[in-house]
Amino acid sequence: MLRTAVEFGAQVMTELDVYDRALAGEDCWVRNRSGARHRIRVRRWLGGAGDSAADHRADHVLTCCCDGPTVDLGCGPGRLAALLTRRGVAALGVDISPMAVAMTRRRGVPALRRDLFGPLPGTGRWAYALLADGNLGIGGDPLRILRRARDLLAPDGVAIVEFARPGTGLIIERIRLEAPSGVGEWFPWARVGIERAETLTAAAGLRVLTTATVSGRPIAWLARS
Ligand SMILES: C[S@@+](CC[C@H](N)C(=O)[O-])C[C@H]1O[C@@H](n2cnc3c(N)ncnc32)[C@H](O)[C@@H]1O
Repeated sequence: MLRTAVEFGAQVMTELDVYDRALAGEDCWVRNRSGARHRIRVRRWLGGAGDSAADHRADHVLTCCCDGPTVDLGCGPGRLAALLTRRGVAALGVDISPMAVAMTRRRGVPALRRDLFGPLPGTGRWAYALLADGNLGIGGDPLRILRRARDLLAPDGVAIVEFARPGTGLIIERIRLEAPSGVGEWFPWARVGIERAETLTAAAGLRVLTTATVSGRPIAWLARS
């Protein structure tokens, strides 16, 4: 780790520190172990004027069926929870990033700074749980996060989960965030192609109600089985 920091001439930070700097406007990339890196999509997460029509369409489809209490797991700066709040739907954002939670609250949306795997209010009573924009990958264990979403839902609740493009398969890797001012630690992440939705969700005690691909982003609506 120290050798890596020297190599980049940058300070080693926690992944959260680097992420929070990105939310505050610093350039930021995600790198995997094979060396490939791509810029993270902070603009999309922030929403607002910089949004493309394609992002708007995806946000609309991710949230349009939510007509009851919705927990947005890994809400980031709270774009989707804010959309719901504006529609009069009770929404709660949950995120481990202090900056993300502060930004969500600034939009007038209740948000908790918590690990989504830890204790959360309303467990077993949420009408909807959102896992948007790669959040199925949190922790590098998609089965665990789907089981967590299932446990949070009411018996007739629905999880709305964004998958990766068809053909992605199941990729579990270690990644890190990099910014000009610092490099984060390696942490586990997963990507799951939509073709794995049926088998993965069945193992998590969920079933696929329907799927749709919007702006190239595959989304599945899952009920408790
Ligand atoms: C890829 S971003 C997606 C942001 C948001 N869902 C969106 O679509 O704009 C992932 C978010 O998950 C949060 N996160 C990662 N691990 C988490 C955990 N264990 N508990 C809660 N939030 C977590 C990160 O801080 C980050 O804000």
